[in-house]
Amino acid sequence: MSRPRKPRTENTSRTRDQYETFPYPERRAEEEDQRLIAGSPGDWGEVVHYVFGGRDPGASGEPIRILVAGGGTGDALVMLAQQARDRGANAEIIYIDLSEASRKIAESRVARRGLKNVTFVNGSFVDLAAQYGPFDYIDCCGVLHHLPDPDAGLRALAQSLKSGGGMGLMVYATLGRTGVYHMQEMMERLSAEAGGRARLDMGKALFEGLPPTNWLKRNPFVNDHIQGGDAGFYDLLLHQQDRAYRVDEVYAFVTQAGLRLQSFVEPLRYDPVIYAANPAIRQQMADLAPQARHAMAELLAGNITKHIFYVVKGDSKTVVPAMKMQGAKAVMNMPGNVGASGMVPYLGRVDGAKLAASVAKSAQIKINFNGFSVTSKLPPASAAIISRIDGSRSFEDIRQSFSPLPDAQPFYAQVVALFSVLSAANLMFVRYQSA
Ligand SMILES: C[S@@+](CC[C@H](N)C(=O)[O-])C[C@H]1O[C@@H](n2cnc3c(N)ncnc32)[C@H](O)[C@@H]1O
Repeated sequence: MSRPRKPRTENTSRTRDQYETFPYPERRAEEEDQRLIAGSPGDWGEVVHYVFGGRDPGASGEPIRILVAGGGTGDALVMLAQQARDRGANAEIIYIDLSEASRKIAESRVARRGLKNVTFVNGSFVDLAAQYGPFDYIDCCGVLHHLPDPDAGLRALAQSLKSGGGMGLMVYATLGRTGVYHMQEMMERLSAEAGGRARLDMGKALFEGLPPTNWLKRNPFVNDHIQGGDAGFYDLLLHQQDRAYRVDEVYAFVTQAGLRLQSFVEPLRYDPVIYAANPAIRQQMADLAPQARHAMAELLAGNITKHIFYVVKGDSKTVVPAMKMQGAKAVMNMPGNVGASGMVPYLGRVDGAKLAASVAKSAQIKINFNGFSVTSKLPPASAAIISRIDGSRSFEDIRQSFSPLPDAQPFYAQVVALFSVLSAANLMFVRYQSA
């Protein structure tokens, strides 16, 4: 019988010590000359879609305030600061992290890019967020699950959000990390207090000798310990302050902070119907309420190692843009029956030309989620529509660019079908033209 895990000491000093020794993720400023790392949460286009319902808060020239809470070596910080500059947004970004070593790396990356709009703070955002707030957007990726009291940490962030604001969060997911906590428990049993290099050496020795039957060895969905260098190994397997969440726990976590979950990313991954073959079971799954559907998807998939999601204040009326046909017209799910024709589509982190070429060949799209792939049929005009999306033309501009001009009703029926597939895969978003 397995022994119940010892409750962990509640303090931030071990977390700080770890990130002083192993700033995470491992980055060098010179790498900024080669590429911009973009990802979820926090990619500007996603934030506009999920948090601001298609209205870009940076577009009006009004000041926009962003907090990167637990910014580490700066991935989200650099992405947001660069994207703000690229869009000419009047953004002020605050970075807070416990670790000085991480802050220095983040600072060097920002300096390398010549980005000016960032203030760096060392300390705990739990204590400091309110002092530097309020914020329109808060990014907190891979941090809250390391707090001694994650609920209090999320409440502190929620309290420093502006009323129309929201957050992009990532916390570990329990099922996809099967084996990680076995390893952490073994380490605890062998050397509960050892930290730093000694802990890394011991962890590596233990890992090298794991039998092939061990759950971690059998889990193909976690790989930071293999690909992420020493910092990745330590962060995944040797953390001394770390918990994971199931979908129902994510909902409870968000609700206790007075927040509302807008969407998991990618939304399609959290749809159980994509994993089930039996039509009767698929129907039963489709009929479940959203939270139950998401929980079922996590159980079915097995490969969800982290939950990435966007939240807004509990009383926010902002909805994630969706569209449907209403008679001959495509309308958005927004108050006042807003027509879809004036909305401006833009693509997520995908090469539009390549996507259009592959859709032109197959009339379908194959989306891979960490070892599980879903193939969806797309309407005939999809490739032509995708190839015309440039982030500034509206759907109606796109229709007008066809020759001969397609009839509005069949054209928009295809737009609705295409948007429903691509937005669920986080590949296509829409924004208001004026925003
Ligand atoms: C796993 S790293 C994630 C870094 C970054 N968000 C990313 O996704 O690349 C966790 C970071 O959170 C920081 N951290 C943990 N607790 C914190 C707290 N209470 N206040 C500020 N930073 C904290 C750590 O120092 C560390 O740099």
